[in-house]
Amino acid sequence: MEYPEDKIRSIYDKSSSVSPFLSWHAEEILTRMKIYREKAVSSLNLTENSIVLDVACGIGFNFRFIENYIGSNGKIVGVELSPKTVKLAKKLIVKQRWTNIELVNMWSYPVLVDRYGLTY
Ligand SMILES: C[S@@+](CC[C@H](N)C(=O)[O-])C[C@H]1O[C@@H](n2cnc3c(N)ncnc32)[C@H](O)[C@@H]1O
Repeated sequence: MEYPEDKIRSIYDKSSSVSPFLSWHAEEILTRMKIYREKAVSSLNLTENSIVLDVACGIGFNFRFIENYIGSNGKIVGVELSPKTVKLAKKLIVKQRWTNIELVNMWSYPVLVDRYGLTY
């Protein structure tokens, strides 16, 4: 099966240029979506030592919700296809002084689907 990796990378690389603008409104976006993100993360039953794989993490909007559960003992691995989006996620990590988040710039689809049979 052919995966449209280049096409999707290009779409999200382009849209990342509006993300700095969006960051001005990030708090508003976070507030609006907070209830859903909080519900989703709480359903994971995370503990202080959990290691979380955040596939297609984008600029890291979910990180702060996950951090609330895992604290500094746990770890987040964020997988993101778009290099420009990864840069923005790195900025957020530095700004928030999170030291337990690793970012991996890769196309995750073949690994998840072919190796683990997962869908998302
Ligand atoms: C709509 S954003 C969602 C970001 C984040 N999960 C959130 O809730 O705010 C989707 C992100 O997934 C990335 N993405 C899409 N397909 C991917 C794949 N197969 N592997 C890694 N990243 C992918 C895109 O580059 C984009 O930044």
